[in-house]
Amino acid sequence: MHDFHFAGDKLFCEGVSLAALAKEFGTPLYVYSQHTLEDHFRKLDTALAPLDHLVCFAMKANSNLSVMRVLANLGSGFDVVSAGELQRVIAAGGDPKKCVFAGVAKSAAEIEFALRKGIYSFNCESEPEIRRINEVAARLKKRAPIAVRINPNISAKTHSKITTGTYENKFGIQFEHVEAIYARASKLKNIWLRGVQMHIGSQLTSVTPYELAVKKVLPLVKKLAAKYQLEFFSPGGGLGIIYNPALASGTPAWWKSPAAKGILTPASYAEKLLPLLRPLGLKILIEPGRFIVGNAGALITRVEYVKRTGRKNFVIVDAAMNDLIRPAFYDSYHEIVPLVKKSGALIASDVVGGICESGDYFCQDRPLAKVGEGDELALLSAGAYGFVMASNYNTRPLAAEVLVNGRKFAGARVRQPVKDIWAGEKVVAWLK
Ligand code: LLP
Repeated sequence: MHDFHFAGDKLFCEGVSLAALAKEFGTPLYVYSQHTLEDHFRKLDTALAPLDHLVCFAMKANSNLSVMRVLANLGSGFDVVSAGELQRVIAAGGDPKKCVFAGVAKSAAEIEFALRKGIYSFNCESEPEIRRINEVAARLKKRAPIAVRINPNISAKTHSKITTGTYENKFGIQFEHVEAIYARASKLKNIWLRGVQMHIGSQLTSVTPYELAVKKVLPLVKKLAAKYQLEFFSPGGGLGIIYNPALASGTPAWWKSPAAKGILTPASYAEKLLPLLRPLGLKILIEPGRFIVGNAGALITRVEYVKRTGRKNFVIVDAAMNDLIRPAFYDSYHEIVPLVKKSGALIASDVVGGICESGDYFCQDRPLAKVGEGDELALLSAGAYGFVMASNYNTRPLAAEVLVNGRKFAGARVRQPVKDIWAGEKVVAWLK
């Protein structure tokens, strides 16, 4: 499933020792496996091969230019959520014509930029947004391709902060309103009704919510497609990954065949959805982020101190919540392994960063090998929503990023020089 593995007692990414990378690039360091990226993209692309389809990588999960170029080279499109992301697509060598633009707050300037670049479709989240797109398109004398994002009111049963397909959420257009909105939008001169879209949430580890949601919207999609000669349907992104355990060594037998456990895989997804989607005769888009990049990345960090208190064994590391916020924000699990295998008993440990917040931890009371000052650790499955959610909190520079391909590796982002953090700031005139 991914290319982080032990060779002897050393942890490798593909053919490269992570300790060697930590030495050369320093820590905290994000490391990405090109092979895992390609493999995951191809698995999805192959699963959908029986249909006319396009995989649009949701670049919000990881927008490093090298990561994006790997996917663009495989023919990937991109799901963007800002003009900035669309500019990144262009910088990475991607094709704006294979881009869809999602998000509830598209500004007129962003709409104009996307129209000028000729994106494939705006995935619209409200009627006022459709009217605004029409106005901007009229000004530019263009017809804007759009799809309405249906909110099917089906819970993805995932973490509440990443569930999007119910009426509690700000996303999409209520299922019952969709038909009337298409009817009104069809009268707008500068709108081209190109498709229908849906996205019910992120980190879905079962196919069932997709199946339920697709079955619910299917009759409506058929009707709209016939009435307005639509070209595509997208059931969205959200395909989940296995975080625990991330490393294949010593893991349960089902690891080798997750589908047997009812876990979502490209094959099980295709098996359930293809029979529903094929009869539509439409082009099928999907917009996965995490599935492609999640297991393809690790965050490498060094132990600064080990501090024992009456109750705890704190392993204090040089990465912190500003580098990887997922555990603090979603209570998420990232497997933590030393770069060099340790023997001996495991100790319940809290791996924590140096930020002045009690929420700044990567795990709590987790049985881990005994590590000491200077040891290096990998936080696995950190390729999605890792670096992209990093901040400069506590004036900590953004980490460096490296791409590995077989035995080759190269820096994909330099560590941020600390002075760059305040480069845009000023001491205002009256204080001088
Ligand atoms: N399409 C739309 C409209 C989305 O909102 C998202 C994710 C995706 C596609 C891609 O979802 P994916 O395939 O990556 O699950 N920061 C959180 C995840 C936030 C997801 C936001 N939307 C995390 O770290 O778990």
